[in-house]
Amino acid sequence: METIATRTANSYAEAYNKSISEPEAFWAAQAAQIAWYEQPKQILTTDANGFYRWFKGGKLNTAYLALDYHVENGRGDQTAMIYDSPVTNTVRKYSYSEFRDLVARFAGALRGLGVGKGDTVVIYMPVIPEAVIAMLACARLGAVHSVVFGGFAPHELSVRIDDAKPKVVVSASCGIEFDKHIPYKPLLDKALQDSQHKPDHTIILQRPYVQATMQPGRDLDYEELLQKATPADCVPVDANDPLYILYTSGTTGKPKGIVRDNGGHAVALKFSMKAVYDVDPGDVFWAASDVGWAVGHSYLVYAPLIHGCTTVLFEGKPVRTPDAGTFWRIIMQHNVKVLFTAPTAIRAIKKEDPDGTYKQMYDLPSLKCLFLAGERCDVATYHWAKDLLKVPVVDHWWQTESGWPMVANMAGFGLMPAKPGSAGKPVCGYKVEILGEDGHELIPSQEGYVAVKLPLPPGCLPTLWEDDKRFFHSYLERFPGYYMTGDGGYMDEDGYVYIMGRIDDVINVSGHRLSTGEMEEMVASHPAVAECAVVGISDELRGQRPIGLVVLKDGKKISEEQLEQELVALIREKIGAVAYFKNALVVNRLPKTRSGKILRKIIRNIADGEHYAIPSTIDDPAILTEIHNDLKARCIGNAFIQ
Ligand code: COA
Ligand code: AMP
Repeated sequence: METIATRTANSYAEAYNKSISEPEAFWAAQAAQIAWYEQPKQILTTDANGFYRWFKGGKLNTAYLALDYHVENGRGDQTAMIYDSPVTNTVRKYSYSEFRDLVARFAGALRGLGVGKGDTVVIYMPVIPEAVIAMLACARLGAVHSVVFGGFAPHELSVRIDDAKPKVVVSASCGIEFDKHIPYKPLLDKALQDSQHKPDHTIILQRPYVQATMQPGRDLDYEELLQKATPADCVPVDANDPLYILYTSGTTGKPKGIVRDNGGHAVALKFSMKAVYDVDPGDVFWAASDVGWAVGHSYLVYAPLIHGCTTVLFEGKPVRTPDAGTFWRIIMQHNVKVLFTAPTAIRAIKKEDPDGTYKQMYDLPSLKCLFLAGERCDVATYHWAKDLLKVPVVDHWWQTESGWPMVANMAGFGLMPAKPGSAGKPVCGYKVEILGEDGHELIPSQEGYVAVKLPLPPGCLPTLWEDDKRFFHSYLERFPGYYMTGDGGYMDEDGYVYIMGRIDDVINVSGHRLSTGEMEEMVASHPAVAECAVVGISDELRGQRPIGLVVLKDGKKISEEQLEQELVALIREKIGAVAYFKNALVVNRLPKTRSGKILRKIIRNIADGEHYAIPSTIDDPAILTEIHNDLKARCIGNAFIQ
């Protein structure tokens, strides 16, 4: 089925202009592309806080759209999902009918434990079919899921459990990282021990590789529960009811609970599949992401299924599972039309196989396009992938908050000429502007705050979980009438947008969004630390990695080596190994302004070997030379790697 936009608009410009000048007409037409139990009564409204809401009064069920709708409309035998897991030597295909039945049964199991509309369920699982089943089962009941990335340590999990207050937590006995089994249950037990909120039950999938120890009464076996369960029907929910919460890093230790509603989400994702990715129902779409990230939610689970595609669920890494040819093997074996991954994954492949030798082993006629997001795509990676795969490479920009692309080269309208280094042009519905400090729009090529004029299109966060105030303060307060994205960048004369990086304390490590502010709080909690700064410096493979600069308390006797070891262990224990915190430097002083603000950006610039201007407000410029020498002595940072 073609979307209205592609039928009535011949070009990107026509569709985009309509989406901005007549948003209600534009999105009403897109809303007609999904099945509602009751049509929306209003397209765009504001709530008591003045926050925008889409499709008020509409009734639908997202799991119905993702599965039952297709079974009822002739796709029952089509493969809904291919689980490809080189780490367990498994390839398993699920038809739409089979997957619908599994989801309905697991929804019945959850219902049997008292989970109903509006209740929350935390899912802490590796990239396995049961994670997707659990998500869709919640959606089927109108319950709100919150998936927590399996690489997070107990502390991060318990913070999320305390905020989401789940009735049930669904987990598995282990995840698999290359050839290592990571037992999840001890991590979950520790998180539950530390959390204030105690869920009624956990449901544990016992994988054959690790047997989890169960606490009788509280912990229930996934398979046993599924066997006994009776299928549950889809529960109609309101368009504005929450579908899920996904926590993402903000600038403090408390992650932000991004809320996704049901109606706007379904409409936006359905639209994006054709308009942004140019895929049709029946096509194979592969987002090589973890279910714990926004990409995993939107483009591994919901969008491809709502659009009637076949989605690929990949449990592995781009390299060493077993080699740097895994991605190409999967594309060939499953006839993948579009691959969506992070630049860091391509860099990992390039590092292990710079000449693309593995690619020569596979013929990829099915592949039409490679989409990259999650971090800035460096020009070298763009060209390497394009030359290797000989298909268009599309960098596109979005965030957990938006849930779908904000800037892209919209393939559904025919690709525009690419400009390497740019993520493309604003996607339909997003009026992207570059603002200066005073909130005025800047002229082309001037770098400033990347903001989106309100209203945001459907699918974007309506608020933060039970925290309207923080939502307003984090995103809407700084520039009235705009959503502040937290990214800096510029737009060129032709309207192409260049995203240059975060303007806050958020960094991107291997495509994982992490808070340096949170790490700073943890480093500062060490008894020997008087004050500290954690900054993200450039990393060839991971994009960025955090380092800590630490000032010791007077009289504390600890060697730099010992302190570094303890801080590395602390971050690993609290956030997880994914944080990739490897260096802590003891310095005499931190560079600050006279008002006491730490000049983190300049520390980053020094480490990266970038030019920087010394602010007139700096307290003592001599500290910059000290920091330069300290980093150099330890060979930390691109500027000092020997
Ligand atoms: N569960 C448990 N541990 C995990 C984990 C998970 N889901 N994911 C990562 N880790 C651990 C790793 O085992 C590693 O631990 P170690 O220090 O004990 O070895 C550590 O976290 C760092 O992992 P990572 O940064 O992933 O490094 P890596 O060397 O294992 O892999 C890449 C490097 C680039 C191959 C990998 O990061 C990758 O595939 N990145 C792409 C990510 C992506 O697609 N993001 C998209 C989001 S849109
Ligand atoms: P996340 O919420 O984890 O998806 O991370 C969102 C952040 O990743 C954005 O705010 C950007 O800083 C960064 N990001 C995502 N995609 C891109 C891109 N294509 N180019 C530059 N930065 C990106």
